[in-house]
Amino acid sequence: MGLKVAVAGKGGAGKTTLCALLAGILSRAGQKVLLVDLDSDPNLATALGFPPGAAPPIVHRKELIAERTGSTGEPGGMFLLNPNVSDIAEKFALERTERVFLLPVGTIEAAGEGCFCPQSAFVKALIRRLILGENESLVLDLEAGLESFGRAMVEGLDVLWIVVEPGMRSLDTARRILAMAASLGVRSIQVVANKVRPENRQALERALRDACIPLALVFPHHEELAQRDLEGTGVFDFTDPTFEEEALRSFRSLPCSTRREYRTEPGSPRRRSSS
Ligand SMILES: Nc1ncnc2c1ncn2[C@@H]1O[C@H](COP(=O)(O)OP(=O)(O)O)[C@@H](O)[C@H]1O
Ligand SMILES: [Mg+2]
Repeated sequence: MGLKVAVAGKGGAGKTTLCALLAGILSRAGQKVLLVDLDSDPNLATALGFPPGAAPPIVHRKELIAERTGSTGEPGGMFLLNPNVSDIAEKFALERTERVFLLPVGTIEAAGEGCFCPQSAFVKALIRRLILGENESLVLDLEAGLESFGRAMVEGLDVLWIVVEPGMRSLDTARRILAMAASLGVRSIQVVANKVRPENRQALERALRDACIPLALVFPHHEELAQRDLEGTGVFDFTDPTFEEEALRSFRSLPCSTRREYRTEPGSPRRRSSS
């Protein structure tokens, strides 16, 4: 059941928390899990219980990006659009457990839609070339929206989780992501309500219905998670058996995977000007 899951949603909705918990869920189901932190505020390492500074984002390694893309750093300069990234996961992934690894990629700074900067080419190539074996899963902790990544992030995706928390702003973001995901051709989308308290569940469900947003999973508010965040301790070992069961059931019901489509071999290098 190797899966490629991406987790999106408004900042603060709980993407990183759910990514860390998802890694635990999938690893207990027998998967080897590679978590990829692509957030502009990368804190998946903290959620996994790594000490501060243990996971410097790869996009900040200027020399590595320059070496792989052939970029001189000159604005408008030439660089490889498909740099060799085949060894990056192996070299830079941090081991959390025997079966859970973190690749701290970080976000593409100053990236916008259609940005042809070397960092962007590097990250897109990296995400495209992460190949899953039989019992391997990939969990992508995305930025709030999908804007800066687009198609590279959703290629071969088995499911996109859109995290919403009780609150209209979170639903607005979800609606925007849903529209973008549909335009990018994402086949399976699951909306996951997070931080749900018994007293606000009905109102949230009503708001989702009114916005025509189907709800797939509900993860309750757990005071312990908020507390652990305050204390800076990880949430990786936190378990919620009901949610775990429902998440696994929902994965099993997904349509056949598109994974084979992104098992592409590195092609011959192409060069393109950034101007
Ligand atoms: N189910 C939950 N119950 C209680 N607190 C939560 C829950 N999920 C997330 N949080 C808290 O909400 C805050 C934002 O979560 P985080 O995962 O960092 O969001 P994001 O990655 O979407 O920005 C953190 O303080 C986190 O501890
Ligand atoms: Mg986050």
